[in-house]
Amino acid sequence: MRVQISPSLLSADFARLGAELDRIKDADWAHVDVMDNHFVPNLTIGQPVVEALVKVSPVPVDCHLMIEDPDRWAPGYVEAGARSVTFHAEAAHAPVRLARELRALGVRAGLGLKPATPVEPYLDLLTEFDMILVMTVEPGFGGQSFLDVCLPKVRRVRQAIAAAGLDVWVQVDGGVSEQTIERCAEAGADVFVAGSAVYRSEDAAARIATLRTLAEAACG
Ligand code: DX5
Ligand code: ZN
Repeated sequence: MRVQISPSLLSADFARLGAELDRIKDADWAHVDVMDNHFVPNLTIGQPVVEALVKVSPVPVDCHLMIEDPDRWAPGYVEAGARSVTFHAEAAHAPVRLARELRALGVRAGLGLKPATPVEPYLDLLTEFDMILVMTVEPGFGGQSFLDVCLPKVRRVRQAIAAAGLDVWVQVDGGVSEQTIERCAEAGADVFVAGSAVYRSEDAAARIATLRTLAEAACG
């Protein structure tokens, strides 16, 4: 498993997103949170802004869609240039059809699970996805406290992926920091989203390096 760090722009300065992307050029991805004020009680950015970010981003864009009806809207984010598109299990009408459509368009397809959503109904569908996103806070806002209660789910999904011999990434998102990243890595996560931990640091590059080192050590 290769550790990957995906800083979330949600905690960046929205008035200077281009410069904020430059701060994370040592990361593997730029995690962009799209919220529609319906699936979550917050509204962020949509397709035109993602398109503008993709044009200047030094790293590929990992789009996390916290929106209703992703079946209708997710392909637009491929058009915008995202390289990975994650939609939520709770919102998708036909997750397999949507994941196949995204893959056919040439991007990685991710399935997101809120803290109260069990992974078990999706374990037979793992071959359809490139990544499972286990939320470790309730989606909607940055800077919330990490929910340890979500770690058993990370463990179960990683075990199922290993048992099936698949190469599916497990992403954790929410409250991931120097204090919590090791627990996530030990449980089996390999892609780490960190918003406030990276963007509220004076030296984002140093923080990314520290998070990576901690996760790599914990992965063994
Ligand atoms: C929350 C978003 C996260 C958010 C994480 O719903 O999906 O990506 O930016 O922020 P932190 O790392 O501050 O918890
Ligand atoms: Zn996110």
